[in-house]
Amino acid sequence: GLNSRLLAGESTASAPAAGASQPIHILYGTQTGNAEQVAMDAAAAAKNLGMAPEVHGLDDIDMAQLATMRHLVIVTSTYGEGEMPDNAQLFWEALSADSAPRLESLKFAVLALGDTGYDGFCQAGKLIDTRLEQLGATRITTRLDCDIDFEDAAAAWLGETLPLASEKPATVTAATVPAPAREQSGWSRKNPYGSTVAVNRRLSGSTSSKEIRHFEFDLGDSGLTYEAGDALGVIPVNDPALVDLLIEKLGASSDTEVNGSPLHALLSNQYEISTPSRDLIAEVERRAGHEELTHIVRNGDKEALDAFLWSKDSLDLVSLIAEGGLGAAEFVGLLKPLQHRAYSISSSPKEADGHVHLTIASVRYHAANRERGGVCSTHLADRVAEGASAGIFVSQNKAFRVPADDNAPMIMVGPGTGIAPFRAFLQERRARGAEGRNWLFFGDQRRDSDFIYEDELSTMSRDGLLTRLDLAFSRDQDAKIYVQTRMRENGKALFSWLEEGASFYVCGDASRMARDVDTALGDIIAEHGGMTAEKAADYMAGLKRDKRYLRDVY
Ligand code: 2AM
Repeated sequence: GLNSRLLAGESTASAPAAGASQPIHILYGTQTGNAEQVAMDAAAAAKNLGMAPEVHGLDDIDMAQLATMRHLVIVTSTYGEGEMPDNAQLFWEALSADSAPRLESLKFAVLALGDTGYDGFCQAGKLIDTRLEQLGATRITTRLDCDIDFEDAAAAWLGETLPLASEKPATVTAATVPAPAREQSGWSRKNPYGSTVAVNRRLSGSTSSKEIRHFEFDLGDSGLTYEAGDALGVIPVNDPALVDLLIEKLGASSDTEVNGSPLHALLSNQYEISTPSRDLIAEVERRAGHEELTHIVRNGDKEALDAFLWSKDSLDLVSLIAEGGLGAAEFVGLLKPLQHRAYSISSSPKEADGHVHLTIASVRYHAANRERGGVCSTHLADRVAEGASAGIFVSQNKAFRVPADDNAPMIMVGPGTGIAPFRAFLQERRARGAEGRNWLFFGDQRRDSDFIYEDELSTMSRDGLLTRLDLAFSRDQDAKIYVQTRMRENGKALFSWLEEGASFYVCGDASRMARDVDTALGDIIAEHGGMTAEKAADYMAGLKRDKRYLRDVY
C-alpha cells in the first residue's frame, strides 16, 4: 500500500478521513527538498480547508494508483538542464510510456519549480503537465512556472488552486498557504542565521591541485537543527575586487545609488555578478557589435554560447560594450538576485555538538588576466576568517538519510568532496551505536595530498565502524583508477551486500562520476546476479523504489 508521508505538524500518517472531507493527492518531485517542503505546506493548508490530503513522492505512485485519483496537485522541480528530479524518474518513465492509463476522471494542477538561468526551465513540470492532458485529465488551473524566488508566487498559486481541487469547490475562496522553505527554528533563505565560523582550515595538502577546506559553523542559540544528509545553505558575498572593477567599468562610484540603494552594496550582496544573466547576454549582444557573439546568439547555438561564455563573468561581458555603453541602473536591471549556495553537511548533529561542518573545494582559476573563483567557496575560504560570520540556514534533504534499520548494511561512494555526507552518515551511525556494516569508496587524484580526513577514516576502520574502505587515487599510477574501478574489482562482495539489504549511496560529480558509477553498478548486478542487462535494470529500479539507491549529486 501507499506509505503516506507525515503531514506538517502531525505525528501520524494520514489516511483519507471518512465523511465530509475531500480527498486530494499532493505529489512531489524533488531534488533538494524545496518541492517536498512546498508539498508539505500545501497539505497543511488543504487540511485547514477540511480536505484530506495525502502526500507522496512521485516515484511512490504507480499508474494503477494514479488512475484511481480524482484530485491531484503535483509540485515538481527540474533537475540539471531539464531532467526529472531523482525521485520522479520512475514515475515519468511509466507516465510517458505507451502503456500509461487514460486519466479522464482526474483533475490536476501542476506547480513547477525551476531556474531561468538553466536551459529546460521548469521542464519536468511542463512535461508532466502536457502528458496528463494528453492522457485525458482535466486541468484545475493553469500550471505555474516559478523562478528561484518561488516562495511567494507558489504560496499564492496554491492559495487559489487548493480550494478548487475538490468535488464541491469554492466553499472557500482562498487557502492561506505559508511561504515555504522554513526550518522549524524560522531561519531560512530569506532570513538566514548569522553564524560564527569556528573553523576554516585547509584539508588537502599543499601539493594538491585542489584546495579542499573544512568549515565548522557555530549554531549558537539559533535553535537550528539538522540531520545527517541535510544540506546547509550559505549566503555568499561577492568578491570585493570584482565589485570595484565593475563599478569602475560602469563609470560609477561606490556611493552611486540605484533605486535608493548604494551600488556597492547591491553588487556585493544582492545580485549575481559572476555568471552573466541571460538578460545581460542579450543586451550585450544587441549593443556590443561583437560579431562572434551575435553570430552565436542568432544561430541559437547553445554549445558555442557555452564555449564563448566559458570563464567569462559579467565584467567580461560589460567590457564588450564600448566605454560608457551601459549605465549602473541599466546594468543592475539586467541582473538576477544573488542566490545562496547549498553544501552537503559533513557532520552528524549527534557528534558535532552545536556545530555544522562543511567540506568545500575552493573553485579558483586564472583567465584573461584576472584571478577568478567560485562565488561562495572563495568567499568562505578567503573572506570568512575564524571568528567572522556567515549567513546560513538548513535545507532539509529528507530522502537522503542513513538506513532506518540500524542493522542494515550501507555502501557509500563519495570521491573528493563527495565524502561530505558520508562522514556525517558514519558519525551518525557511530553515535547511534548502529551495528550495520559500512563500506566506503573514496578517492581523488593523489593519496599524498588528497586523502582528506585520512586520520578519521583510519580510526573508523580500526574501530570497526568502517567495515571496508576502498580507495581509488587516479593519478598515483599510469592507468586511471576510479571509485568504479574498485567497485568492479569487488563486485561479488558488493552484490552480496545488496542482496543482504544494503542501501547504496552516491555523492559528488553528477555528469561523469555518478553516471559511470551507475553503469558499473548495473554491470556488477548483471554479472554477479547472473542477470541480463534488462533484469539488472529492473533490479536497480527496485532499489530506487525501495529508497535503497540514493544520490546526492551535483
Ligand atoms: P582524474 O581527474 O585524475 O581523471 C575527483 O575529482 C576524482 O574523480 C579524481 O581522482 C578524478 O580523476 C576522478 N574522476 C574523473 N572522472 C571520473 C569519472 N568519470 N568517474 C569517476 N571518477 C572520476
